[in-house]
Amino acid sequence: MGKLIHAKNAGLFTRAAKEFGTPVYVYDEATLIEKCRDVLAMPNAFGLHVRYAMKANSNRTLLRIVDRQGLLIDASSLNEARRAHLAGISLKKIMLTTQEVPEGEDRAELERMMLGGMKYNVCSLRQLREIAEFAKENDIGLSMRIHPGVGAGESATRNTGDDYSCFGVHRNDLEEALAFARGMGLRFNAVHTHIGSGGKPKIWRENIDRELGFVKQYFPDADTVSFGGGLKEARMPDEIAADIEELGLYAKQRVEEFFEETGRKLVMEIEPGTYVMANCGFLVTKVVDKKSTGENGFLFLIANGGMEVNTRPLLYGSRHPFYVVSQEGKLLSSDFDESTLSNRDELVVVGICCESGDSQSLDEAGQIVPRRMREPEIGDLFVIGGTGAYCSAMSPFNYNSHTQIPEVLLTAGQELKLIRRRQTLEQIVENEI
Ligand code: LLP
Repeated sequence: MGKLIHAKNAGLFTRAAKEFGTPVYVYDEATLIEKCRDVLAMPNAFGLHVRYAMKANSNRTLLRIVDRQGLLIDASSLNEARRAHLAGISLKKIMLTTQEVPEGEDRAELERMMLGGMKYNVCSLRQLREIAEFAKENDIGLSMRIHPGVGAGESATRNTGDDYSCFGVHRNDLEEALAFARGMGLRFNAVHTHIGSGGKPKIWRENIDRELGFVKQYFPDADTVSFGGGLKEARMPDEIAADIEELGLYAKQRVEEFFEETGRKLVMEIEPGTYVMANCGFLVTKVVDKKSTGENGFLFLIANGGMEVNTRPLLYGSRHPFYVVSQEGKLLSSDFDESTLSNRDELVVVGICCESGDSQSLDEAGQIVPRRMREPEIGDLFVIGGTGAYCSAMSPFNYNSHTQIPEVLLTAGQELKLIRRRQTLEQIVENEI
């Protein structure tokens, strides 16, 4: 299926809508497997680990598919790490990179997981001081996330490497951190950076050089270097995805040069979330109403799912591809097929939350940007592509007391399988006293 929905399989969405109701997320297993193979084929010098950034989408069925393909896991919270482990993934395959400083029972759990083989990526001086004795006593090698001071993201809010964000041990604190670590007799066998999501490849390449400089200067024991995630995926036809081959060849060359200079063979890691998952997912909604705000206004299409199931347009002004599918399963228009868009009206897609930002047609400043499409009838399906990553996982799904929606997998054998049930209203209120 992939990002190009062909007329012949638009009927899948009608099937999913009939069987599971709308709104519903539909994930395509074949695309997911293809994306996993794609990242695993990244050129490298002395070995490659790919950690799937599970924050993008943590559904256990999807985690298992990714695991079976041979990817490792990047967890961003203790709960994410627990969740991956609950899905059956070995602790040895998980690295925890978190802003948390676990205390009490969480701390005990962290220790148990580290003893079971989970890698801990130290992200601050405080985290280092808190974990030092335990790591020393148990002879556990650590990873360190370095804040390089330079980053890149598709928006300011997705830059995690510059000084306006606070992820990792800042380069200015490295000497202090490493002096402390030496004093404690600690070993760092991995070095990590993640500079942001969807930024320019040039900055990603520059980060490779910078990071290898840190490894050379400060980390004599490191055998693994992680360049983080952030590889851009093209959701829209006019977007350009990261070139895995080109970035890999660059990294390979740099890691080989590092070997020539130092005699050290580094294994390379990457941590893609978006690149693996974004185009595997579709959000299937139903058109429930239409309204016009007159000559100087817009024609609004009201879909029964919006910001509470895909917040990315409101949060970042992100664009997703739109597909209009008739109730009979016919593809009426697609952003990937210009012939279905020419001479079409411009419409604004909104959801059912009482919030004027509940729109799928916004720019970064929150202004409305109408989009061309075939005007649907009430009851037709409105399908939003590119919704595999950071939609189900990152949306305020109980806003306006809407229930969390189901997730369905289109298996490689073309079966539609429910992989998460729809939440009930009772579940929303069950912890209230
Ligand atoms: N590694 C670390 C430590 C991260 O914090 C992240 C994402 C990734 C890897 C994966 O980045 P990706 O390959 O997905 O760009 N919610 C945003 C993306 C920000 C994610 C934050 N960290 C979005 O919807 O575009």
